[in-house]
Amino acid sequence: MQDIDRAREALAAAHKVVALTGAGISAESGVPTFRGDGGLWKNFRAEELATPEAFHRDPLLVWEWYGWRRQTIAPLAPNPGHYALVAMERRFGEFMLVTQNVDGLHRAAGSVKLAELHGNIWFTRCTVEGTVRENRAVPLALLPPRCSCGALLRPHIVWFGEELDAGVLQSAVDACRAADVMIVAGTSSAVYPAAGLAGLAKEAGAFLIEINIEATPASGMMDVHLSGRSGELLPRLLE
Ligand code: OAD
Repeated sequence: MQDIDRAREALAAAHKVVALTGAGISAESGVPTFRGDGGLWKNFRAEELATPEAFHRDPLLVWEWYGWRRQTIAPLAPNPGHYALVAMERRFGEFMLVTQNVDGLHRAAGSVKLAELHGNIWFTRCTVEGTVRENRAVPLALLPPRCSCGALLRPHIVWFGEELDAGVLQSAVDACRAADVMIVAGTSSAVYPAAGLAGLAKEAGAFLIEINIEATPASGMMDVHLSGRSGELLPRLLE
């Protein structure tokens, strides 16, 4: 039996499904991935700018980077990979989509049972009050943006060295432990704790399906590795 058929069969028999996505699922919409060639801005890597230290040192530089990313993402639309995950949410009794992406394209596609592990680029958070607000302005009127209380706003994003929101992470862990099938699509499986979720699902007995254009550190633990684009392969899983 071909790998895609084994994956389809596992999915057809499943009741509880969890999917973990990363930047690769948005690549076909035109969003640059982090570890690919398009991920560099002015020769900075994400790890150099997406940190509390970088923001403390130079909030304007970090906001210029996020301004550029917001401008890049604003005109982009979800692709068939995002929509296949919406169809899965409707098909399975229990479904959870866990994403590392902050681009908001899963929400734009219509996913509701969604855990955004790393936050969302379209929300800001006050560095003093902690208030979270949606902000779709492109470009931002003032850089770096400020709260009505006068304090700096930051992107509502989990940076390197910061803890994930405990409630969001717990809901992802619970879904992985309960799943019959876990789909891991478009992530390099390089950043923890997200990269550890597939191991939890595996320990609990889930069938693991990876979709990626290349092998990752997690490929060895997968039941099936499907090599190709998520925008093509995710819809095929449902055929
Ligand atoms: P990466 O850029 O590390 O990995 C993207 C993955 O997608 C790679 O494994 C590619 O091979 C794969 N890929 C690219 N195009 C694809 C396609 N069309 N179909 C399927 N796969 C494709 O992105 P993430 O794994 O999401 O953190 O990175 C994890 C985290 O590191 C991000 O959430 C971000 C980053 O720094 C924060 O912003 C906190």
